[in-house]
Amino acid sequence: MSKTQAVSFSKTGGPEVFEFVDIDLPPPSSGEVQIRHAAIGLNFIDVYFRTGLYKAPHLPFVTGKEAAGTVTVVGPGVTDFAVGDRVAYAGSDGAYSVERNIETKHLVKVPDGISLETAAAMMLKGMTAEYLLRRTFKVGPETVLLFHAAAGGVGQIAGQWAKALGATVVGTAGSDEKVKIALDHGYDHVINYKTENFLDRVREITGGKGVDVVYDSIGRDTFPQSLDCLKRLGMFVSFGQSSGPIEDFSLAMLAQRGSLFATRPTLFSYIATAEELKDCANALFAVVLSNKVRININQTYPLREVGRAHADLESRRTTGTTLLIP
Ligand SMILES: NC(=O)c1ccc[n+]([C@@H]2O[C@H](COP(=O)([O-])OP(=O)(O)OC[C@H]3O[C@@H](n4cnc5c(N)ncnc54)[C@H](OP(=O)(O)O)[C@@H]3O)[C@@H](O)[C@H]2O)c1
Repeated sequence: MSKTQAVSFSKTGGPEVFEFVDIDLPPPSSGEVQIRHAAIGLNFIDVYFRTGLYKAPHLPFVTGKEAAGTVTVVGPGVTDFAVGDRVAYAGSDGAYSVERNIETKHLVKVPDGISLETAAAMMLKGMTAEYLLRRTFKVGPETVLLFHAAAGGVGQIAGQWAKALGATVVGTAGSDEKVKIALDHGYDHVINYKTENFLDRVREITGGKGVDVVYDSIGRDTFPQSLDCLKRLGMFVSFGQSSGPIEDFSLAMLAQRGSLFATRPTLFSYIATAEELKDCANALFAVVLSNKVRININQTYPLREVGRAHADLESRRTTGTTLLIP
């Protein structure tokens, strides 16, 4: 059996729990291919697994859900992928590795015109923007929306995509520098929520009406003000918890604020079938190839320095997307 290298953790905790280790790499099983990663995407969900907010299925655990690379070995029964194919995925644990086996149901082929680095940076965040803006709530020219963490990985992609759909796009960001970045990525109005009360500013921007939909990945720190930003019958989309989970949500809060809707979506339920994955990825490839959405890789770290990458993401030092290079 051959060996490869990966980053794993044997106990949950801070960035120091990561270890760069040798692991076995068996030949791919039926329905799998072996790939060599060119680049690995860093996502906030990786932090949730490392800290234990999301439970790792076993320990030691190789986390990471997003990467791109080249097929090096094809397992038994695989007919739709060949050695040399450029592929990417979002949603299969084990991305923090140099090489790996993966079931082909997770993979998409990366089209010409998109580099493997860009693919690794955008699959999870970009497909998230796709389902949030086109399926969780159908954003169009009449929509006024609020998107928190506008200068972040998902935030930059979502701002550009929402603008391309014709919406009025309001964002929040945690510094004046990030406000400028967000204004350059589709946002019509950006609020520095460290120095301004974002609820007051949303009311001012919308002439007191409120927004149709709030996309909230911050969780604890923006709750319940995010609900108060909504119009009657508006939609609260709670899709992350970068500041910690919301603990005191009750259905009555929706009634009191005008029969609001609320959902807690995850990408993985929106790309659960092969057809959904293909449609979602193709929509993302189309907006990137047509330059409606630019993917900014603003931080790159060697895979073995993933602890530093996590510390930077958690302390709000990153903007746009971040890659780990094996
Ligand atoms: N449900 C899904 O399907 C799905 C899929 C992908 C991502 N997500 C969620 O979307 C969010 C964005 O993910 P990402 O990978 O693109 O990360 P990111 O937005 O690049 O980074 C998180 C950002 O959140 C903001 N933030 C506010 N309070 C924070 C705090 N206390 N600690 C850390 N960050 C804080 C920071 O921006 P400011 O400094 O500007 O506030 C920070 O840069 C995450 O919550 C993630 O879990 C959900």
